Amino acid sequence: MYLYGASGHAKVIIDVLQAAGVKVDALFDDDPAINDLLSIPVLHKWNGESPVLVSVGNNVYRKQIVERLGCEFITAQHPSAMVSPFASIGEGSVIMQGAIIQSDARVGRHCIINTGATIDHECSLGDYVHISPQATLCGNVHIGEGAWIGASAVVIPGVKVGRWSIVGAGSVVLHDIPDGVVAYGNPCRVITRNSSQNHSSSSRSRQGVRNIAIYGAGGLGREVAGGIRRINNSCGERWNMVGFYDDSKEVGSPVSHYGYVLGGMEELNAVSEPLALAIAVGDPMSRKLIHERINNPLITFPNLIAPSFKVLDDETFTMGQGNIIQDGCSATCDVVVGSFNVLNGSNVLGHDVIVGDFNVLMPGVRLSGSVQMGHCNLLGVDSVVLQKVQIGSHVTLGAGSVLMTKPKDGMTYIGVPAKKFDFK
Ligand SMILES: CC(C)(COP(=O)(O)OP(=O)(O)OC[C@H]1O[C@@H](n2cnc3c(N)ncnc32)[C@H](O)[C@@H]1OP(=O)(O)O)[C@@H](O)C(=O)NCCC(=O)NCCS
Repeated sequence: MYLYGASGHAKVIIDVLQAAGVKVDALFDDDPAINDLLSIPVLHKWNGESPVLVSVGNNVYRKQIVERLGCEFITAQHPSAMVSPFASIGEGSVIMQGAIIQSDARVGRHCIINTGATIDHECSLGDYVHISPQATLCGNVHIGEGAWIGASAVVIPGVKVGRWSIVGAGSVVLHDIPDGVVAYGNPCRVITRNSSQNHSSSSRSRQGVRNIAIYGAGGLGREVAGGIRRINNSCGERWNMVGFYDDSKEVGSPVSHYGYVLGGMEELNAVSEPLALAIAVGDPMSRKLIHERINNPLITFPNLIAPSFKVLDDETFTMGQGNIIQDGCSATCDVVVGSFNVLNGSNVLGHDVIVGDFNVLMPGVRLSGSVQMGHCNLLGVDSVVLQKVQIGSHVTLGAGSVLMTKPKDGMTYIGVPAKKFDFK
């Protein structure tokens, strides 16, 4: 068999293979200066020799090489690794010394499960994932394609890490991490966009038209369906709208001229083909609960962005997954939008605004510079938040209100200036 990539990572793989009784005949590497590695010859022209194991640590390059070779690949496992007979390992993956893979865990193709890493029960890892030394994935964790989990990071049960994202060494991941970002720390927070790759868009264009459904067959669901038509009519992504899921509507009932209700959560969690999903429910907490109930790894959450969305400086704009941005919205510079937010039209996000997850901004909401917002807030039609105001979580701001000072979590504020509203 042959290795492709003659690096330090390859040295460890040679150890793994030799301990498993597999002989490496030669390595291949594009660098003509490397002619042997641990006394094994390094060749520079690949003529279809196989089987191959791609011994490149970088997930992006590993994927590129795998796609270029397109040959038979083998899987390597060190004898000291403990892999449950109920776990599955995709071709081309390497399980290094002392790694533990528990029952019903699924490891994709061309993954690296590095020294002493632990993948607990029912985890699922996409292709080209790297779990670094001593990292721990607790039960039911989902790691998207190409994601890299740094050394000694811990991901708590049930959390999803998005495709091509990086989780820094030593991080403690408590909440879902969106696609394509760099996140680190304890607790782990999204820091920036992962600019070292752009796989989400390239794989999208290869796949062509993708199936999409909407959870929520009410007014917002219809608005989102209309928005998807707009996106399809522009020159960007094309979606095939398959229908709606909604637990409060009868299966088969029509949703305007956009499609039919296909089922509820049970049916959604049972779909057997990849499906993009938009959560079109306007109540922030309900959005979060719906997302938590979706456990089908075939479901992905794209950002649905109206073609009219304007960003002053694209380089400094960061966004997670599952966001819905309707017509007429704009963001200036250094804006960070987390995941699963709804910007329901004509929203303005000033410089340095940070929007967390599961927030709903009704039409006309304006956030002035440096406003920071946590999770599950609801901002009413035409409300305004003045510069530097920090909003925590579960705050409701009434329509037309102007928020000038930091509100208390879980409270409702109305008026100009917005005051705490007592329902008694
Ligand atoms: C997350 C990571 C990719 C960021 O790399 P980077 O963009 O080059 O970041 P920098 O080193 O420039 O650091 C930028 C800032 O983030 C901080 N930082 C970086 N990584 C961090 C981490 N894992 N945890 C906490 N803070 C971190 C740095 O302290 C620095 O802060 P400062 O500006 O206040 O000094 C990298 O630090 C990391 O953790 N890589 C994983 C390494 C690993 O596990 N390798 C295993 C190989 S088998």
